[in-house]
Amino acid sequence: MSADKIKVSICLGSSCFARGSQKNLEIMQAYFAEKHLDDKIDFAGHLCEEVCKQGPTLKIGDKVYYGVTATNLHAILDDNFKDL
Ligand code: FES
Repeated sequence: MSADKIKVSICLGSSCFARGSQKNLEIMQAYFAEKHLDDKIDFAGHLCEEVCKQGPTLKIGDKVYYGVTATNLHAILDDNFKDL
């Protein structure tokens, strides 16, 4: 881990998992691999953060996204990582 990496974390708690975070995880791993971002980000899963009703949640740096699904995830990733 390095201080200049962008921290990215995804909730893998049971509620977010049931709502699709596993699929989000697969999409993100493929996206980061395709764009060769693995050395620029610090990607981790974490447990429930008590906002299950708004999940699946995703944190990128200081930003928190709620209701992240396969439908809107690509736009979120492009917003944050397209120009890296
Ligand atoms: S399971 Fe993700 S916030 Fe609770």
